[in-house]
Amino acid sequence: MHQPVGDLFSDTLVERLARTRRVGVLTGAGISAESGVPTFRDEGGLWQRFKPEELANVKAFLENPALVQGWYRHRREVIEGVDPNPGHDALAALEQLVTERGGSFHLATQNVDGLHHRAGSESVSELHGSLTRTYCIDCEREATPDEVAALTNADDETRAECPDCGGLLRPDVVWFGEQLPETEIRAAERAAGTADVYLSVGTSSVVFPAAGLPLTAAANGAYTAEINPERTPLSRQLDEHVSGKAGDVLPRLVERVRTMQAETS
Ligand code: OAD
Repeated sequence: MHQPVGDLFSDTLVERLARTRRVGVLTGAGISAESGVPTFRDEGGLWQRFKPEELANVKAFLENPALVQGWYRHRREVIEGVDPNPGHDALAALEQLVTERGGSFHLATQNVDGLHHRAGSESVSELHGSLTRTYCIDCEREATPDEVAALTNADDETRAECPDCGGLLRPDVVWFGEQLPETEIRAAERAAGTADVYLSVGTSSVVFPAAGLPLTAAANGAYTAEINPERTPLSRQLDEHVSGKAGDVLPRLVERVRTMQAETS
């Protein structure tokens, strides 16, 4: 493993990001933590207050739709009240830098908060879906944001039903036991399999298949780095662990990449 010298991260990482053609990134809840969106497994994270098996699966939803819809309404309200942070902004800036020099950039996220899009990232796979979309489980019609607001904001006891057919409305997110959206995971696997450098940012690396993406990148010869204040089960298998918060590390890293890219162009 390369030990970062001087700065939080190594010169090798800066050089790879500034010079190679294909850059891939995986993000998890940690990158949105500094925006005020709770993570899942940290202290105070979402799963400490709610057990995933109680809320994030189809069976729980069918047994108690109003409770699950209410939980997602709460999560939507949280993300509507927050903004992208310097970590999201830095990844959008990195995409610009890489594509400006003719390279390719792909970001796969496990987050359903839409903050990467709001920060300006363009090539994004939302592996676990998006809280911003809601659809009917019977006729599959997508409900508009106004309909969702009107139908789900009543209280936690009234189930939200499709205005067309009366079917239950559910968020367009991946629940435990469900498949990931095929186009999104394919794009993410392709990017990981062809990357020259791959970053894993703010994820505990315990939920597969997403957690396998940095390993795919490493197996295919990419230089891999993890940015996380804590070590994860993957840390030892990657080239570099950068111990710090995404909102601190990424802006500094991207600034160094910008400078090096300017010097060599
Ligand atoms: P977790 O809550 O499991 O992990 C969050 C990670 O972010 C931890 O490793 C923290 O150390 C790290 N972290 C916290 N603050 C950070 C910061 N400011 N900067 C960088 N890292 C920070 O969240 P995920 O790994 O995203 O899936 O969880 C993966 C999936 O588990 C979620 O997408 C969700 C959940 O089940 C579904 O709902 C399908």
